[in-house]
Amino acid sequence: MPHADSALVPPGLSKVEFWAHVYEQLSALLDGQRNWVVNLANASSLVYSSLLAFSPHFGDGDRAVNWCGFYIDSKFYPAPRLTTAAGGADVPSPSHVLLLGPFCGKPACQLINVAPERARGVCAGAFVQQKTQLVPDVEAYPGHIACDGETKSEIVCPLVIRQDGKEDVVVGVFDLDCLALGGFNEDDKAGVEKIADLVAQACDW
Ligand code: SME
Repeated sequence: MPHADSALVPPGLSKVEFWAHVYEQLSALLDGQRNWVVNLANASSLVYSSLLAFSPHFGDGDRAVNWCGFYIDSKFYPAPRLTTAAGGADVPSPSHVLLLGPFCGKPACQLINVAPERARGVCAGAFVQQKTQLVPDVEAYPGHIACDGETKSEIVCPLVIRQDGKEDVVVGVFDLDCLALGGFNEDDKAGVEKIADLVAQACDW
């Protein structure tokens, strides 16, 4: 099957069935590949393209998902030009920022500060708290960083590496934005968390 066909979505799926379908397609795409750039690039494309094909479930067709991608802890990511971050003027240390990774959608902010006193916004919240942030109205989220003024709702899930006998490590976050208020619900949260877990375990970091 051509790779692009993995983003085809059968008609009539519920959200739960939709996420199960995307999970299955992504498992096949990641099989045999452990490079994180390759896998995150294909994951963002697959989820974004599939969501657009499924857009009636996220409001009307004009208010679909508008961004889908990853921010990665800079300690996993060479970053020679770290000068400013969205959450503050100076970057105290490369380990205190998330850097823009593979994504689909319009251009977005490059750095997100996650240093203890400077962290702000939805991605920083998910990373620091190690907990999914389901945000029905971005205007109501303290410190929300508006990469696109048209975004109305958002969900961000931490990418956590689980290793037997070792502490969990958060390597970054998976971020989805929507042009509709309340675009994501608890079914999306469960689906996005499973996708994030699949991607985190499928890569070498
Ligand atoms: N809104 C995010 C920033 C990333 S963009 O949405 C792509 C935040 O508040 O962290």
